[in-house]
Amino acid sequence: MILVTGGAGYIGSHNVIALIDAGYDVVIFDNLELGHIETVETLKTVQTKGKVVAFIKGDLQKPQDINAVFERYKIDAVVHFAAYSQVAESVKNPRKYYYNNVYGTLNLLDAMLEHDVKKIVFSSTAATYGEPEYVPIDEKHPQIPVNTYGKTKLMIESIMDDYDNAYGLKSVRLRYFNVAGADSQNRVGEWHEPETHLIPNILKSTFSGGKTFQMFGDDYPTKDGTCVRDYINVEDLAKAHVLALKYLSNGGETNYFNLGTTEGSSVKEVFSSCEAVTGKKIPLEVKSRREGDPAKLIADNNKAKKELGWIPEKSLVESIKTAYCWEKNLSGNI
Ligand code: UFG
Repeated sequence: MILVTGGAGYIGSHNVIALIDAGYDVVIFDNLELGHIETVETLKTVQTKGKVVAFIKGDLQKPQDINAVFERYKIDAVVHFAAYSQVAESVKNPRKYYYNNVYGTLNLLDAMLEHDVKKIVFSSTAATYGEPEYVPIDEKHPQIPVNTYGKTKLMIESIMDDYDNAYGLKSVRLRYFNVAGADSQNRVGEWHEPETHLIPNILKSTFSGGKTFQMFGDDYPTKDGTCVRDYINVEDLAKAHVLALKYLSNGGETNYFNLGTTEGSSVKEVFSSCEAVTGKKIPLEVKSRREGDPAKLIADNNKAKKELGWIPEKSLVESIKTAYCWEKNLSGNI
């Protein structure tokens, strides 16, 4: 059985589906602060191939909660998503991030060691690299995070190295670039309150009563003045986690991989693609830069391709199409 922490959240829920499709039994552990009970209910219906999907409500900051999962289920490996992930909030309230992300992960790792579970796939981030010294960013790029969120993820990566050296706990750290899109069958999708991410915010602006989309800065040193990001489809991303689990099951050593497409898209390009997909003229207002946004983040994904056999397949337009279906669901605008 695979334990998925944060399985009721955006990226976690798509991974639960990918794991079920790959034939695994899954137990979801989530405190439902950011995850949704409706998502859990949906995931429980995705029991293809007779696989088990169990749910335990609990908090990683309470060691007894996470220990209880290992006592109840025979866990073979863990895929760990549960975390706070808002950059601006992390800078304003670092305490919240260090306790939840770092201390919570320590409790999880303790419970794993206590129950002799030695394999974990960890949701890391391009934010561990900080301001890029070069693009595309490969895994050799220095990791100098510039915000607390990135620091918590880098600390966890470093803790995982020490836990391998000392206790033989093997980890794969997957460093995501900008995750986009939703389940192609529209069962789960991105559902943050408040929403801060680019694609859902543009799409929400297409609905009646939606706010004017705010573009944060058009004076960056990029092709059209807006920030460039590498948008990786959430289903493609989920497949990489299944491959990482298989890699660990086959005796793979502790490792880390970038997950991105190598394609950079500017905010203006994403905005135009959203207009094309929705067929709507979207209200737009250019605002000043958002603090802490690097001009350009693009992944070099050769390592994941070569060592995991991972191939991202879906385009930005496909991500926008599925995200739009999901947004219509969420807004009741079907
Ligand atoms: N943007 C807007 N308007 C919006 C939202 C975003 O113009 O309403 C712009 C941002 O300024 C940025 C780009 O769109 O230039 C992408 O912004 P997102 O918030 O969608 O994504 P980020 O690149 O800021 O952050 C993402 C993840 C983080 C992770 C980071 C790694 O959400 O969790 O990538 O670099 F840390």
